[in-house]
Amino acid sequence: MGRRKIRIVIAGKGGVGKTTLTALLACVLSRQNIRVLAVDGDPQANLAATLGIPLSQPITPISEQKAYIQEKIGGVPGRGGFMVLNPDVADVADRFSIPAAEGIRLLVMGGVQNAGTGCLCPEYTLISTVLANTASLPEDAILLDTPAGLEHFGRAVAQGFDCALIVTDESYNARAVARDLSRLARQCGIRQVLLVVNRVSQGSENPVAIGEMAGLFQKIWVLPHDPCIVRNEPSVIPVVRDHCPIVRNIEGLSGYILAHD
Ligand SMILES: Nc1ncnc2c1ncn2[C@@H]1O[C@H](COP(=O)(O)OP(=O)(O)OP(=O)(O)O)[C@@H](O)[C@H]1O
Ligand SMILES: [Mg+2]
Repeated sequence: MGRRKIRIVIAGKGGVGKTTLTALLACVLSRQNIRVLAVDGDPQANLAATLGIPLSQPITPISEQKAYIQEKIGGVPGRGGFMVLNPDVADVADRFSIPAAEGIRLLVMGGVQNAGTGCLCPEYTLISTVLANTASLPEDAILLDTPAGLEHFGRAVAQGFDCALIVTDESYNARAVARDLSRLARQCGIRQVLLVVNRVSQGSENPVAIGEMAGLFQKIWVLPHDPCIVRNEPSVIPVVRDHCPIVRNIEGLSGYILAHD
């Protein structure tokens, strides 16, 4: 295709719709013949179900691929020891991503004990290496769903991603987190920082609250509350197949990202 890879991190306060947006955007991009890798960076790991993978299907996250960790990093899981700090992990998606609906591939990172304390264990080293080296992955679009909050905006995400979609709802607290995230994303050097105001009911849109965010983001997208999402939980696949109202908004957002990448 000769275009640059699209590498998007999706972040925001808890429960604002990060995983839903990641999955919907993955579907819409994939339907445009773009090879999509959806990466679940949330230890809660619910992107699989959101992409229509049955809960009964066992998935071993990257953080538990002991042989791979040993092969690439060395060291002792959970402890440390002698480790290779920048191994070539370009094969990680080929080896461990699993097929989801709509031609999307899914890579589940899993949790790392003590990750918040900056532990230098092999699992953590592997995950940050994968995130920092998305440029070497074969897919054309990499979407990273993150856990709630701010912590994951480290060096690895800054290196591996060039667009941040900060998700909020209209609540004061979620907007405050979104403001902090916009600052962090910029400090990290992420080129494109967009705000998505999600789950806005018809007539409830608060233009003042949204307007006060304008200077912090290149663009603000408003997504409607769509009962179709709630009806089909946890999967968004029927939402896309039935062309529910929100899909048009996501197509608009994806068009913007493709045009401004
Ligand atoms: N536009 C929308 N319209 C209606 N419901 C929505 C919309 N977006 C998300 N939801 C619903 O809101 C809930 C939270 O969404 P989701 O799990 O995507 O949030 P999250 O930010 O990923 O949460 P967490 O921080 O726990 O990972 C879900 O029940 C989801 O179905
Ligand atoms: Mg989530």
